[in-house]
Amino acid sequence: MRLVLLGPPGVGKGTQADLIAHEFDILHYSTGDIFREILKGSSELSGKLAKYIDKGELVPDDIVSETIRRTLSNDGTKSKGWVLDGFPRNLVQAKMLDDLLCNVNQKLDFAIYLRAHRDILVDRLASRRVCSKCGIIYSLQINPPKENSICDECGGELIQRKDDERDTILKRILIFENEFAPIRHYYKDEKILIEVNGIGNVNDVFNHILENLKSGQERRN
Ligand code: AP5
Ligand code: MG
Repeated sequence: MRLVLLGPPGVGKGTQADLIAHEFDILHYSTGDIFREILKGSSELSGKLAKYIDKGELVPDDIVSETIRRTLSNDGTKSKGWVLDGFPRNLVQAKMLDDLLCNVNQKLDFAIYLRAHRDILVDRLASRRVCSKCGIIYSLQINPPKENSICDECGGELIQRKDDERDTILKRILIFENEFAPIRHYYKDEKILIEVNGIGNVNDVFNHILENLKSGQERRN
């Protein structure tokens, strides 16, 4: 199974991609997470990335494409399926992924688009906390840690992402809204688009994704 999980900031891509990866025993790659790992170091690339990510702007396509190319070309990834979370973000990236897969005789199975109203996104992101050590995503509203600012799983410190400040959140949402329509049409034309309402509790959203994937597969067979 090869999937991309698309949607605005805060809609639950990371949360749902983890569940999908576990359900289908596939790998979960988030371009955002990959970039934040690079940001922890001090390289020429990390300096470049910080300029975009901290301001909530998209990283240039050449850097993103190279990151995806490298991620998907390792042997473990080739033999297993994957879900890409937060990639592609524009038509250039969508076509780049298709070219990459075409070169190895593979195809994307489905593009899942999670949608939610912007007020909900702002609320969710304002109360998100992330473990600085293992990356688990918390919400002060729906799944707060047992102990304030400490990860239940690994004891790491919970932090608020730099790009989760209100103005940066609004900018990220606006960029998504400006870039998304062409990708949506692209995958719709390819007949692999699955649209799922991202509002509701995490398990209900997950079940809707599973139902849609199942009916998508049945239609294809
Ligand atoms: P990225 O890390 O991908 O950020 P994003 O797209 O803005 O999305 P988020 O991670 O903020 O939200 P999410 O949808 O994963 O939601 P989550 O599950 O955490 O990218 C960051 C930056 O990297 C970009 O701005 C850009 O600079 C760069 N970048 C990355 N990819 C790029 C690309 N392809 N091209 C160019 N640049 C790129 O959930 C949010 C909160 O809501 C959590 O607290 C969670 O617990 C809670 N929650 C989840 N589901 C529910 C629910 N059903 N009900 C209530 N709360 C929920
Ligand atoms: Mg995410």
